[in-house]
This record gives sequence, structure tokens and C-alpha cells, in this order.
Amino acid sequence: MTHFPDVSQSQALYKRAGELIPGWTQLISRRADQFAQGVSPIYANRASGSHFVDIDENQYVDWVNAVGAIILGHADPVVDAAVKEQINRGSLYTLNSPLEIDLAEELCQTIPSAQMVRYTKGGGEACAVAARIARGTTGRDKILFCGYHGWQDWYQAANFGVDPDSGEYPFAGIEPIGVPRALAGTVLPFRYGDLAMLEALLTAHTGEVAAIMMEPARSELPPAGYLAGVQALARKHGVVLIFDEVSCGWRQAIGGIQSVVGVTPDMTVIAKAMSNGYAMGAVVGSHEVMAPAARMFISSSYWSDNIGLIASLTTIRELKRRDSERVLREIGERLRSGLNQAFIAAGLNGRCAGIFANPYLAFDLPNGVDGRKVSTLFVQEMARRGVHTGTSFKATLAHTPSDIDQTVTAAAAAFRVIQSGLENNSLDALLVADIKKEPFRRQVQ
Ligand SMILES: Cc1ncc(COP(=O)(O)O)c(C=O)c1O
Repeated sequence: MTHFPDVSQSQALYKRAGELIPGWTQLISRRADQFAQGVSPIYANRASGSHFVDIDENQYVDWVNAVGAIILGHADPVVDAAVKEQINRGSLYTLNSPLEIDLAEELCQTIPSAQMVRYTKGGGEACAVAARIARGTTGRDKILFCGYHGWQDWYQAANFGVDPDSGEYPFAGIEPIGVPRALAGTVLPFRYGDLAMLEALLTAHTGEVAAIMMEPARSELPPAGYLAGVQALARKHGVVLIFDEVSCGWRQAIGGIQSVVGVTPDMTVIAKAMSNGYAMGAVVGSHEVMAPAARMFISSSYWSDNIGLIASLTTIRELKRRDSERVLREIGERLRSGLNQAFIAAGLNGRCAGIFANPYLAFDLPNGVDGRKVSTLFVQEMARRGVHTGTSFKATLAHTPSDIDQTVTAAAAAFRVIQSGLENNSLDALLVADIKKEPFRRQVQ
């Protein structure tokens, strides 16, 4: 029997965080209740390649990878060397940095929708910039959305439209506390894949909608023709189409999901993996939609710091140089097929599905079984075997065949534990950890 790792220092620090930091962390996905609290590590000491070491000195294979912000691997030597060299020449100049132009050129050569570029330091912030530009360019206020687009008021105001306890989208259980009520009705959700619903909303709000902002995909490719249908509706109603590729960008294809499906939006939001662990985000788009932003007040001191710029430029060039699409496909496919064999070997009903950029586990559970207990037990049993993961996987170029083999072996054991818990009705007894909270819903699976 594998012992549970000692995570006592992580837990002590987390207790102190509860006294010092409202909400414990800066990112909901880093809260302990998102994993197997009591067993999973909470604080890291160092990270390299496909692994990290927690503050209790346990080592893990990492499949979370800073919620997708790491794509080349932790502490990538090429990106870090470029950043260190830049630090020696100044991290933030008084004047503008020529790197702004270099990165803009690179993005315009890489992302189909990019003709002009604005920078930020993160994804949610870039979504807010995109919303501002779309509103400023069209002179309209309302935004239709599908997906997660950050913490800012323009977006969280959507929650005024639903009863937070109803379990309905956009965010079951999240109340818009602190968001101005005056924004209610300015941002409206639509269901992914449902063109009729989108059309009905556009018709009901004719002449008022500035933009459709959506995640074009997450774990599955879009249904055939869906994004082209969205684009046709956007054009018909004179609405700016924005793809939020903060999470789905870079992995499936360097040019984003738009380059896979051949639908070019008016604007695209990117962040996370574009800079392999350095703060960066951007809005790119057509000249027609972006140029009016010159007259809008969109301005911040650190948006053009040299660190994010050089990290992005180097990351994108390294993705191309290392043939990332092929390598990530191979890793994703090997992981998916290994996990599917592990399901069969354990006699557990379920599968590993999804695009190679984001494979995920789907457990087929008997009626009445609480899926949260099963996913927590999975995370718990993986942590116990030195693998830090949720039920979906973000590969990096640093993952080796032996990391995948270790993950598949751990999953096979975790699946056996789950299967025995199901057979003997003993899931509760097997759970050492607290049941993890579901992440907020995103509408796009
Ligand atoms: C699709 C999407 N948009 C926006 C964001 C927000 O990005 P950030 O956390 O960098 O503000 C996220 C983060 O998960 C995301 O997945």
C-alpha cells in the first residue's frame, strides 16, 4: 500500500493564508478545495520540466501546469535565458520597447485574425480590453458570451440574470457581489452549439449588441459548421466576433482553434501559454475593428514590460522550432490510449476522451453515485502516487514517455480503488480527502 504523502507544511501555510488572504489564494483554481484537500499539495517550492516539488519535499508529475499557462515545461531553459538576458538590460524602460513591434509582427504571422495587436498582463484583462474595443468600435453596449472570460465587472454582471442557487449557467454558486447592478442586462450568455438561441438573442436585441465573445472550443473540436454559423450570424447583425483563445490557444495548433477550423474572427484574446509562465496577454484583430482603439482610453504601466514581451516572443518561436503541434499530439494520444487501457484493466466504466490538447476523464457511474466523490478519489489516489492532476490533463513539451507511463500506472491503481469503492459501496471510507469543489462552469466543455 502506497502511503499518503506528508503535506503538513502545505496545510499549515494554507491555514495562515486563510487569516491573511481573503479567499486563501489569488486564483480560484489554486484553492485547496479544487483538489483532494488533506492529501494534495498546496504550496510549491520549485518546478522544472514536467515536475514540481512541494514545500514538504514531495515530487510530482504535473498535469495542471499552472492551469495551462506552462506549455514548454516549467523553467524552460531557452525562455528563461532570454528573460534573464533581458533583465540585465532592463525589465521596464522609460521609453517604448522595440520588442512590442517584434512580438506584434510574430503574432500577425501566427494567428489568422491578427492584423493589429494590443497587450495586457493576463487573460481576463485582455477580455475586458476586447469588450471595450468592440463597444467603442460599434457604439453599442451589449455583449453575448459563451465561456469563461475573467473576473471583471463587464462579464460577471451576467450573473444578475440567473438565480445563483439554481445550478444554471453562467456560474452556479457564484454571486455577483460587488458588481454594479447598473450593468445587469448588458451581458447575456448563450449556449454553445445552439445557433437558434444565438440568433434569437441577436434578434431580440437588434442594434444593441456590440460583440459575441466565445471560447471556440475546450476539450472537443466544435461541431462541423458551428463556428462558421456563428460568424454568419455575427456578420448579418453587424456584431464583432471575438474568440477567447486564452485556454484553447497554442496547444491544439499554434495559430489557435481558428486555424484548425478555418474560421477567422474579428478579434482574438490570447494569454496563458503564450509566455510560458510570465505575465502576458493580448488582443489581436482586424485593422477595421482594432484601429478605432487608438481613440479609446486603454492604457497601463506594465502592459509593455520587457519580460512578458521577450517571454512571449521566445515561447512562440520555441513552439515553432520544437514542432509543438506534432509533439503535443503524440503526448496527448499516448496518454489518452494509456488511460483508456487502464480503465479496461481496472474493469471501471469510463473513458479518456477529448482533443489531444486537453484529454479528460469521463466516468460512467451507476445512478445515485456522487461524481464529486469519484473525481476526488481519483485526484487523491494520483497525488498519493506522485501525480498532480485534476480529471483533465494539460500536456507540455517537457512530458516524457516515462512521465506518461508513471501517470498511466498511477491511474490504473486509482481506477482499481474507485472500482472497489463502487463494488463495495465504500467510496466514503476510501476518501481521506475532503470532497473537492466543482470548478465554476464554463458552458464550453
Ligand atoms: C477562456 C479564458 N478566458 C479568460 C481567462 C482569464 O484569464 P486570467 O486568469 O489570465 O485573467 C481564462 C482563465 O482561465 C480562460 O480560460
